[in-house]
Amino acid sequence: MNERWYKQAVIYCLDVETFQDSDGDGVGDFAGLTSRLDYLARLGVTCLWLNPIHPGPNRDDGYDVADFYTVDPRLGTLGDFAEFVHQAANRGLRVIIDLVVNHTSDQHPWFQSARSDPASRFRDWYVWSKEEPSDRRQGMVFPGEQDETWTWDEEAGAWYYHRFYNFQPDLNMANPDVRAEVRKIMAFWLQLGVSGFRMDAAPFVIELTRANEPDARREYPYLNEFRELLSWRRGDAILLAEANVGRDELLEYFGSGDRLPMMFNFVLNQRQFLALARSDATPLVSALEAAPTIPDSCQWATFLRNHDEVDLGQLSERERADCFAAFGPEKNMQLYGRGIRRRLAPMLGNDRRRLEMAYSLQFTLPGTPVLRYGEEIGMGDDLSLKERDAIRTPMQWTGETNAGFSTAAAKALCRPIIRGGDFGHETVNVQAQRRDPSSLLHWVERMLHTLQECPEFGVGRCQSVDTGDPAVLALHYEAPGGVMLALHNLSDRRRTVELGRQPGTEGEPLEMFADQAYEPVGSELKGVKLAGYGYRWIRLRETLGR
Ligand code: NOJ
Repeated sequence: MNERWYKQAVIYCLDVETFQDSDGDGVGDFAGLTSRLDYLARLGVTCLWLNPIHPGPNRDDGYDVADFYTVDPRLGTLGDFAEFVHQAANRGLRVIIDLVVNHTSDQHPWFQSARSDPASRFRDWYVWSKEEPSDRRQGMVFPGEQDETWTWDEEAGAWYYHRFYNFQPDLNMANPDVRAEVRKIMAFWLQLGVSGFRMDAAPFVIELTRANEPDARREYPYLNEFRELLSWRRGDAILLAEANVGRDELLEYFGSGDRLPMMFNFVLNQRQFLALARSDATPLVSALEAAPTIPDSCQWATFLRNHDEVDLGQLSERERADCFAAFGPEKNMQLYGRGIRRRLAPMLGNDRRRLEMAYSLQFTLPGTPVLRYGEEIGMGDDLSLKERDAIRTPMQWTGETNAGFSTAAAKALCRPIIRGGDFGHETVNVQAQRRDPSSLLHWVERMLHTLQECPEFGVGRCQSVDTGDPAVLALHYEAPGGVMLALHNLSDRRRTVELGRQPGTEGEPLEMFADQAYEPVGSELKGVKLAGYGYRWIRLRETLGR
């Protein structure tokens, strides 16, 4: 029996603000989200990750927090939140929230006090420099939109450090009082019933920055403190880290299983886009082969699209250029010199076969899959919106006014609805796809339900199998409950591969999920066929009672 729920979870990421408005003010809220829980339960996801829910000026979509101990009044009350968590649990859905403690909003009372009074007890909660730092134009996360990491504050008479925008001053993690406060924030939300946190900007949280010290030290053992708190307060809670770092650093975040239990696999994400762009599985095979072995209790999280740009920063210039050419050829589709600010369906030319293959591939790569809201119906983007807002438009429930998201006047909506064209809500919406058994939504539901029967993908040991064809990826999974094979054809042409009998095969293989009805493969796996962008999940063994 697997007691680690997060290894068999499907995480669904949403922003309460853009999901469902219940009171007609143009902003999504907890009551609205609660009314959509049946939809989410039926979809087959098991854990909801909420983008920031706290009050703040909302200049970085909620990642600029002004009070960590309540919810943004636009989204409802703490009571609405507690009711939502309860109703989610009734349907077997867990909830995790964003933990944004690398920085606060500059409007947070802590920063207001720190800047206005050198004697304030909050002064040392932030990172200051009396002298102008020589490195203040280095280390920007949003190049092109942000031009420094140290900003002069007239009121404080000093420079303050901010890894992100200048309205997000970094907290000083070297200060024990700040660390104690972070523990209190986590404990507060665990007490309200969340199953853990998505840890925003993890590498910067543990970075101890000082002016003119360009190579800030990352204090990995600080991560143990996070884990300890979780263990004491809620043993089964998780921390899912956002850390887009190189291979050499990754294991530090897991420790020996005593730091962060989960990390987004940014390496695999970038390799998957490269593989899709080139119709070549090689970048994925090499990434999987080079992946470090992680402690048994730890887990990767896989994703295709999230709420940010597709960050291709870890690819070589040549590789990135191939991805741009395939998926974001126009300047307006690109962002920060390294990424693409589009949703998946438009990136893949709304080609249904290719979309299915891409999701089937993501959901069978090693780890726990994370799905962004709206991807299940193939929503598009609005490139007229600034930066990452392009992919943050309201959920499209119906083809009617405001896509069924809100009854407010169009100009009162928190963000415009996508209208007209291939991705307008008139065409792409839940209601229409509900009625159509061949819709993408139905397909995603089927895939998620089948995934529940194939826990090997989440918990098994994964090995790539040589297919002799660079366009075809074959992954072999072995777990106590069984053995599975996942095949994906990244090209648009038919393929036939010779795989031979695979370790762990017992009896006749059973096709669990595929893009079409194929001839049975037979246990020797000879002449295995795949249509263009075809995929097959084949069970090679099932061990009952395990
Ligand atoms: C990472 C988040 O994913 C992004 O949306 C945000 O802008 C930065 N952290 C700053 O919090």
